[in-house]
Amino acid sequence: MPLLFGGDYNPEQWPPDVWAQDVRLMREAGVNLVTVGVFSWAALEPEPGRYDFGWLDTVLDLLHDNGIGVALSTPTASPPPWLGHRHPDTLPQGPDGIRRHYGSRNQYCPSSPVFRAAALAIAGALAARYAHHPALRLWHIGNEYGPSCHCGQCAERFRGWLKERYGDLDSLNAAWGTAVWSQRYSAWAEVLPPLRVPYVVNPLQDLDYQRFGSDILLECYTAERDAVRGHNPAVPVTTNFMDFYRHTDGWAWAVETDVVSLDTYPDPNDPGAGMRGAMSKDIMRSLGGGRPWLLMEQSPGAASWRPVATPKRPGLNRLWSLQAVARGADGVLHFQWRASRQGAERAHGAMVPHAGPDSRVFREICSLGAELARLSEVDGLLGERVPADVAIVLDWDAWRAAELPHQPHDGFRYVDRLTEYYEPLWRANITCDFARAGGRFRDYRLVLVPNLYQVTPAAAANLAAYVEVGGTVVLGPFSGVADPDERIFTGGWPGPWQDVFGVRVEEHWPLPEGVVLDVDSAELGDFTASTWAEWAQARGADVVAQVRGGPLDGRPVVLRNRYGAGTAWYIATLPAAEALARLLARVCADTGVEPVVPGLPPGVEAVRRGDWVFLLDHNDDTAEIRHAVPD
Ligand code: GAL
Repeated sequence: MPLLFGGDYNPEQWPPDVWAQDVRLMREAGVNLVTVGVFSWAALEPEPGRYDFGWLDTVLDLLHDNGIGVALSTPTASPPPWLGHRHPDTLPQGPDGIRRHYGSRNQYCPSSPVFRAAALAIAGALAARYAHHPALRLWHIGNEYGPSCHCGQCAERFRGWLKERYGDLDSLNAAWGTAVWSQRYSAWAEVLPPLRVPYVVNPLQDLDYQRFGSDILLECYTAERDAVRGHNPAVPVTTNFMDFYRHTDGWAWAVETDVVSLDTYPDPNDPGAGMRGAMSKDIMRSLGGGRPWLLMEQSPGAASWRPVATPKRPGLNRLWSLQAVARGADGVLHFQWRASRQGAERAHGAMVPHAGPDSRVFREICSLGAELARLSEVDGLLGERVPADVAIVLDWDAWRAAELPHQPHDGFRYVDRLTEYYEPLWRANITCDFARAGGRFRDYRLVLVPNLYQVTPAAAANLAAYVEVGGTVVLGPFSGVADPDERIFTGGWPGPWQDVFGVRVEEHWPLPEGVVLDVDSAELGDFTASTWAEWAQARGADVVAQVRGGPLDGRPVVLRNRYGAGTAWYIATLPAAEALARLLARVCADTGVEPVVPGLPPGVEAVRRGDWVFLLDHNDDTAEIRHAVPD
């Protein structure tokens, strides 16, 4: 199969004579896959139970006749107005108890039996009709699952979820710490989602609702997936994930898909966009266990939801597309094929922009299509894996918990912590995978844990065992602080790992903006740090860096400990970027982790996939690279 190339196609927005032009232009551009039907529910079922598949029959046949495959979507991300109008309890409620109405999209309550039944009915009807259509390559379930609802039906499902997790009410009371602030529940019926409350809500109630929110949406997804699979198990199924998205736990979701797919919209005005895009792509590859993944959506131009929707400069869409292929994607799709003339996304970029095919954007799309077709022909690329010696731990629960209200620093952002560790490695052309906290660390020379605030016993044991047998770990601050019930570990931090890291943290010491720590280090060179510090004490570890001056004078902030046959580094602060880069370079050198290509000019990215090395120049000017290719 060639590299997939195309985008979301919304023919229901256009009269049929445009469809003929569409397929002609698709062929010209080398498009071989389009996603159809994402928002077609109202067009497919104009009234309850009355289906109109005629137009979709024509579209799918037309695409097939022109050699274009289809990712067919169940259109359940945007129910038609008739559903919400007749059944207001299919509409979601916010934590404020206010109903969100139709007139936009995503207006569904995942717990609503009426919504579920209607969604399964349309998904089943589509599958019954098209599961063996020759154009069908892939099912695309829903779209960007994520909305949350706090209605009475969700409250009921939440109570059921809690009963599963905790068993009885006493255990729930114990886990939620309801002795605090007189929150003890005397009957299940009293237990609610975290609604709008006078002050800060119970932290585990909040966290459990986030966990539940991911699970209830996953239930919607798997129900539709199973409904379509039942008609033809040979067709793979996916749903599109977003870049860092806290509401749906990527690890739990990825295993339920046949192929992981990504929607990504880095900001062309962001100088760090190339790095950020690489990171999202590495996450998608990792969620799928290293298998090829699919870039489902990116904009060929502007993303109209940005406050300033600057288009991609010439060449940028090609660069970011090839970055996806380099980092393991076997397909590059866009949102969307033809620019909408109406509706909320009328200012969004598209493969065929408003200006029409006689445009810079369409010409670039055509040359990208041709290039991807050429790449499809080379041996040792498609389907191949991307080797990585470094894993970065990514954990949804730790992320959510670290950002709950009333943590020591409300500006402590989990994704920023991961990015701070990812960026210097990206600059050094060292490829990283992402791993779950309980993942198979032994596949890696080095495991980075920029933050793991919440730790399960299994994750604690997994990391300790890896170090013990010779692995190297770098652990960032505010880690090992709480268990999965959001109970703080007593006796110092990192709770389960004081022996592994040879350190005991007594106090967290978040720093206000503008306060800079001076740090002395003979080994790494002196540096500065900010935002976060800790009152730590070495308990067996070597002190590599310590604070100079101020109330933390002399406190260690970088420590290295031998544990079993391995090495455990603990970083109790947020070093300035160059200092963290030096530290990580040092650890990489110690562990034999090497760049894909050494000594490249800044801004030139190197990634190995299969037999190939991609060199991606993120600069505006020309870079000349002379590199001896090893045999
Ligand atoms: C995605 C969505 C698409 C489109 C796009 C615009 O979130 O899946 O349908 O709205 O954003 O950037």
